[in-house]
Amino acid sequence: MTSIDRRTLITRTAALAAAGMLGGSAAAARRTSPRPPDPRFPDGFLWGAATSAHQVEGNNLNADLWVIENLPNTIYADRSGDAANSFELWPVDLELVKSMGLNSYRFSLEWARIEPDKGHFSGAMLDHYKAIIETCRDRGISPMVTFNHFTTPRWFAALGGWQHADAPSLFARFCDRAARHLAGLIGHATTLNEPNLFGVLGEILPHELVEGDRAMQEAAAKQLGIARYCPGIALYFENLALFRSNQMEGHRQARAAMKAVRGDLPVGVSLAIIDDQAVGPHSIRDTIRQRYYGEWLRFAAQTCDFIGVQNYERKVWDDKGSLPPPAGAQRNAAGAEVWPGSLAGAVRYAWEASRLPVFVTEHGVNTDDDTLRCWLIPLALAELKRAMDDGVPVRGYFHWSLLDNFEWGFGYRPHYGLHSFDPVTFKRSAKPSAGVLGAIARRNSL
Ligand code: FCB
Repeated sequence: MTSIDRRTLITRTAALAAAGMLGGSAAAARRTSPRPPDPRFPDGFLWGAATSAHQVEGNNLNADLWVIENLPNTIYADRSGDAANSFELWPVDLELVKSMGLNSYRFSLEWARIEPDKGHFSGAMLDHYKAIIETCRDRGISPMVTFNHFTTPRWFAALGGWQHADAPSLFARFCDRAARHLAGLIGHATTLNEPNLFGVLGEILPHELVEGDRAMQEAAAKQLGIARYCPGIALYFENLALFRSNQMEGHRQARAAMKAVRGDLPVGVSLAIIDDQAVGPHSIRDTIRQRYYGEWLRFAAQTCDFIGVQNYERKVWDDKGSLPPPAGAQRNAAGAEVWPGSLAGAVRYAWEASRLPVFVTEHGVNTDDDTLRCWLIPLALAELKRAMDDGVPVRGYFHWSLLDNFEWGFGYRPHYGLHSFDPVTFKRSAKPSAGVLGAIARRNSL
């Protein structure tokens, strides 16, 4: 960090402390644990950055979303196109991970590349991911591999996606093939990414988006001359209960397939968890928690070796709904509050509810102002460490994201990266925040 960055960071932190912005549950945490956190993280703690295949690889032609992004009535802001060209440039990305001083990397396998047609598996593509995993190992980077990060093959979407009766076994067959080829050197595996979001996302996002998604699914089905087309990341569902129960069964069978190949492979699932805080009498917070995470947390507790927590925000709930952010709150590029204590709050809850060891598989901020990211990382990690000092078994932290990327329906507008890239040359450039996280990771200490 340059001295200017450090000054900005200190000024921001001091201003926020003065404005009482580090209050709320952070203050509560301090009441239960008044001492500052022990700065040292445990030996073997995983420090990483995260990406997902469709968001960085580019030219993911056989994926369900490629069809959706390229429809005339698409509500996607951009086509994924070349993305960050990480399909070619993954060695450069691993170099970024290494040069930051991280000891782990979270990335995903692209099912659509490995099984481009139903039942036809590509040995070349399995070898591609094997090369990434082997190179990670050569460089002392432990690979945390997501077997499915939202996108599915287009043939799967054309069957009706997760709402098809065979969806769980089709997913498990892919996981079996991938595990046979790759499991030996994987550090940790997750099955699905944020499956708890499906169904509730439609409650969080504007209704027009759900209607827009339905129109796109219908247009894709019409274009392909089929009855229905449902991608892995959907807002509209003909049968939401079936989608959710098939994902649960898919997770269960996928885990069994991976364990059959390598019994000691740690397998988990990553859930999106907001730090929901209760305020005033009869807060609806606990009802919200049940609706957003209850089912999956209970299921994870029975089927996982660890839980992945993905947190970007907090919400404060009274008896009627969520309250607007306090005046003077730090905001991300979309106007939502950025509150450093939210990560620890979500992690404490996930641990209490599941009693599973925790990996933070995503945490970060959508901002064009990297000083905000530089400010957030150390404060969030200090609160996380405080939770660990209180006994919460957190085993690793992965920042979203290693580099700016294709943010689904929002296209290339949101910037979550520790690195930016040039869309023409694909040259990566480190942002100061890469140095902030890297310094903590190298020291293994706040
Ligand atoms: C999470 C997703 C990830 C990325 C971040 C910003 O919900 O898992 O792919 O889009 O949000």
